[in-house]
Amino acid sequence: MNNKPKLWWQNTTFYEIYVPSFCDGNGDGIGDFPGITSKLDYLKELGIGGIWLTPFYTSPKIDNGYDISDYYNVDPDYGTMADFERFIEEAHRRDIRVIVDLVLNHTSSHHAWFQESKSSVSSPKRDWYIWKSPEGKALPNNWESFFGGSAWEWDEPTGQYYYHAFAKEQVDLNWANPEVREAMKDVMGFWLDKGIDGFRLDVINFLKVSGEFQDNPYDDKGEQIHRYDQNQDGILEAIHEICQYVHQREGIFMVGEVGSEDMDILSRYSGSGLLDVVFNFNLGSQEQLNPERLYRELQLMEAKHRRDQLPTLFFSSHDMQRHISRFGDGDPSLEERRARLIATLMLTAKGVPFIYYGDELGMRNHVANRIEDMRDIQGLGHYEVALKNGRTEEEALAIARAKSRDYSRSPMQWNGEPFGGFSSREPWIGMGPHHTQIHAETQQKQTDSIYSYYKQLLSLRRRHPALFGGDYAKLEMRDQAIVYTKRSDEHEAVVALNFGSEPLQLNLSDWANRELHLAAASQKSVSLDGPSAVIPPHTAAVWLS
Ligand code: GLC
Ligand code: CA
Repeated sequence: MNNKPKLWWQNTTFYEIYVPSFCDGNGDGIGDFPGITSKLDYLKELGIGGIWLTPFYTSPKIDNGYDISDYYNVDPDYGTMADFERFIEEAHRRDIRVIVDLVLNHTSSHHAWFQESKSSVSSPKRDWYIWKSPEGKALPNNWESFFGGSAWEWDEPTGQYYYHAFAKEQVDLNWANPEVREAMKDVMGFWLDKGIDGFRLDVINFLKVSGEFQDNPYDDKGEQIHRYDQNQDGILEAIHEICQYVHQREGIFMVGEVGSEDMDILSRYSGSGLLDVVFNFNLGSQEQLNPERLYRELQLMEAKHRRDQLPTLFFSSHDMQRHISRFGDGDPSLEERRARLIATLMLTAKGVPFIYYGDELGMRNHVANRIEDMRDIQGLGHYEVALKNGRTEEEALAIARAKSRDYSRSPMQWNGEPFGGFSSREPWIGMGPHHTQIHAETQQKQTDSIYSYYKQLLSLRRRHPALFGGDYAKLEMRDQAIVYTKRSDEHEAVVALNFGSEPLQLNLSDWANRELHLAAASQKSVSLDGPSAVIPPHTAAVWLS
């Protein structure tokens, strides 16, 4: 990657909005476009440059919209098409770009295409999905669904199984069929005509399964390895075709979700003629804070990306637990300090950052203690399977809790009202912990809040070439600290992330050619004596020249 960004997304910080949980404009307990539009000034003030919207299309919402039944409409829970258009207009008026999440791999079972496909074996749309005749009634193979149980669902009237990598209501399309590809290009064209600036492509490495349908192997923990149902031959051709179509229009950004921590797999999917970037799960998805591992992943990202590739930087999402809770070791005195360290890494390292809504406030994981409070199909699906396998309700709940993705999906905490200012009535999912104390209203007024720290970092990143662009001139591990220098022409940035519980001594003249000034510190107490600096435990510092 050239260290001087040429395309808008190369120096943009994105903000993921989980649409049902951001702001409820009409008081029905569900987030919507009028709500989101009313918060654009908040996002502008924070300093983000792009929004990623999770799916908002018409959907029965078995998987909160990742099960689309009409690709050409806005789900009534989220507003009208006019509300969507107004949102785009208002975002653009504030110089905020918008990318939309598109699910190309599967449709809802309620989609008219699937209804037609399942109507008979000779339906003209039969081949739009993946149907398989069994030997007797035996399952076609051992492939498992990510939401629990077999990935094959029996269709009694036509005597065949259909394939679903996720819920049985999310039916995998057959991307080997050129009609499917054309249909999806038409969908993309429709939203591009509405003025969107790009797509986040859901589970894009799932588009093809092996034509041999071999059984998948298992790892030593008994978990299935998805060898034959992901990353199959021919997939890059399909992605190339849609990227070519989309890139006929200038400046459209394509980010793909490739659910893998293997950098060799990830790097296949982006670059010239393919996706612009893919999400780097290897960096942000660790269960516990492990600075050595973070350092190794940063090194690996540097080594494995070609010059035409840029990594992504993210540590929370609607599928992951919030990093503040994951990395805090249950210790309230560490949670926020570590969250600020991660924020510093995310907003100063090389790559395209994606902030998850509420992380800028230090919102914690929401925990559903009873099965009735659980909303996520991944938790609920595994609960059902566990009960069927003879587990007790208590055991099944423990399994469901481990699989559930509700943790990070609780309503945005705008103020100290009972429903966080998100809605005037009880929201569709429970509020996060301490929501009457942790919220935007007070943090916006406090200069030392985590919100203000994010805002400061974002402002630095927008303005300083060695932060929004730049290459690593040095990247090292010192005890429990990660330290790097980034350079862009005459600009330099030095970042020290002290994850350890001992102070870190740094001689800044070893790190930069120029004189530096301290531009940001995650705690107040970084001390400087000439070129030598002491960074307290659990503290980050950023110097610029
Ligand atoms: C992606 C989404 C996730 C969804 C799945 C199936 O991983 O991020 O939320 O459940 O795809 O569409
Ligand atoms: Ca609403």
